[in-house]
Amino acid sequence: MSDSLRFDGKVVVVTGAGAGLGRAYALLFASRGAKVVVNDLGGGRDGDGSSTKAADTVVTEITSAGGVAVPNYDSVLDGQKIIQTAIANFGRIDILINNAGILRDRSFLKMTDQDWDLIHDVHVKGSMLTTRAAWPHFRRQKYGRVIFTSSNSGMYGNFGQPNYSAAKMALVGLSNTLAIEGSSANIKTNVIIPTAGSRLTEDILPPELFNELKPEFIAPVVMWLCHEDCNETGAIIESALGWAGKCHLIRGNGAVLRKSLKDSVTPEDVRNNWATVVNMEGAKRCETIGEATGELMNVMEVLGTNKSDADGDKSGVMDYSMKNQYDFKQVILYALSVGAKLKDPMDFRYLYENHSDFAVVPCYYVVFGPATLMETDIIEKAFKGRSVNLAGIVHGEQYMKILQKIPTEAVIETKCKVLDVLDKGRNAVLLIEHETFNSETGEKLTTGRISAIARGAGGFGGPKQSHNEIPGVEAPKRAPDASYSEQTSTEQAALYRLSSGDLNPLHVDPSIAEMGGFKEPILHGLCSLGFATRHVLKMFAGGDPELFDSFRARFSKPVVPGQTLRTDMWRDGNRIHFQCVVVDTNNLVVTNAYVDLKKVKIGTKAKL
Ligand code: NAI
Repeated sequence: MSDSLRFDGKVVVVTGAGAGLGRAYALLFASRGAKVVVNDLGGGRDGDGSSTKAADTVVTEITSAGGVAVPNYDSVLDGQKIIQTAIANFGRIDILINNAGILRDRSFLKMTDQDWDLIHDVHVKGSMLTTRAAWPHFRRQKYGRVIFTSSNSGMYGNFGQPNYSAAKMALVGLSNTLAIEGSSANIKTNVIIPTAGSRLTEDILPPELFNELKPEFIAPVVMWLCHEDCNETGAIIESALGWAGKCHLIRGNGAVLRKSLKDSVTPEDVRNNWATVVNMEGAKRCETIGEATGELMNVMEVLGTNKSDADGDKSGVMDYSMKNQYDFKQVILYALSVGAKLKDPMDFRYLYENHSDFAVVPCYYVVFGPATLMETDIIEKAFKGRSVNLAGIVHGEQYMKILQKIPTEAVIETKCKVLDVLDKGRNAVLLIEHETFNSETGEKLTTGRISAIARGAGGFGGPKQSHNEIPGVEAPKRAPDASYSEQTSTEQAALYRLSSGDLNPLHVDPSIAEMGGFKEPILHGLCSLGFATRHVLKMFAGGDPELFDSFRARFSKPVVPGQTLRTDMWRDGNRIHFQCVVVDTNNLVVTNAYVDLKKVKIGTKAKL
């Protein structure tokens, strides 16, 4: 790439190039070697009249400076003729800058059909017709650059410009779609939102600002967008005063308005959830329409896994709830208990409350389900008086989805419900739903599902399966896309008991472990899952906890504190399949597991 951006051999059409921004574009392109078609109807600011003077003056400016240019006096509504001028004079067209524009400002009440139609004709239909005339040439030569000119008036609204605002936003939609349709032929289309002193703004902008807002500061931005080295496409670029920035539409996380696929939505559900619907914290851009609709699958997943109130109580359902309050101390303790290290820059944010991005390891709320179970008699009641060895109950599977950003301090309430007690032969399996709410706002923050195995408690003639079970997904057969190993400490379970509130002595007391059928105390399955979650975020989310959406895992064999865990990971779109292996024994300890990310950001440590 040479230092100087050149356009030798390229042919540029600039519409409305007889004045203002268009003139600045035409002069700059000609000065960099392009052959320029200077189009201008030469009419008034509101679209009346026509004259050859505007285009001719700019052509003379270019040619007298040694450049190459020809005039065209057609309206952009005759876009075909404008493109034909380029073909007839220079044999090709490489770059089209749709810039021509007029104003017919009226408040909505006073606006006539003519005010609406003229504005839409010049801005939208004119840009469309001119671009459509150039399109076959771009496709044939597998090269084309198109600029559409929008306005802040459309982006944000502006009193007195309903016609203009609507037309200018129509161009954003047109550019977005043409960026997609043109991608296979190396055609790039972008939108410029300029703010410049011109006849369109002379009575709007204060004089001191008007003089500073030179079109010449915007022309280089448009020029770069049109250069063959620039890969930008489908972007909206705002520019003024020698500044340029990209604009995006973003979407908030929203709220799920019904409980399950069987429920409907009432207007009251909408009212009651409105604060969450319009909450833009954690809002993000969907890069494609596929991503936007794909995210709705998450809503389907939540609705599909939730049980309808209409289903009634089929399993002697019990509701238990427990309030918890935490602040940065518990957040840090939890991070330490799932292996976060001060020396690792991706972990540091979890361990220091004054860190600018201080955050909660995103699987933190998974602790409140088991903690609630330990604090209540939910398990004994679920077995309805049948004897069960509580010391033999182990965590089988876990699912959890984050619905809102997890605060670094909060008062929360976790509600647990036994969905089913399944008879799996020798063992029984309890399916327990846990949901955590922000006690102050009432917002649901996470929803989760535990499957707990009560060893030796099966054979009671209960159901073997349930639609409430969340199916596991096997890891791909190929070699992992990334792996990350970390040693747990011999005190890991002792630490995790404190951070999680799951005080089951099985994890520290050898005699209780023995009663439960284990040789020695074992690590909490959720602790291993915390390690794995950090590993996935490091490798596939650039360490950003906000990209975590949900996970599911099966705990297939116990881990003994002090052993080294290796997380093997496979990427499949935004889903990261993973499994954990104890390096010391080669035992697979976490299987059928995945983390769904909102977006993948390959971490610097990923060897991909
Ligand atoms: P300008 O009035 O100085 O230049 C527009 C040119 O377009 C004029 O020379 C005019 O004769 C020509 N034109 C109008 N209708 C035409 C048609 N049917 N066919 C061919 N040429 C035609 O205005 P300015 O400010 O340079 O505007 C350029 C573009 O930038 C316009 O699309 C405008 O809406 C847009 N824009 C300008 C902003 C600003 O701050 N100046 C802000 C936002 C958008």
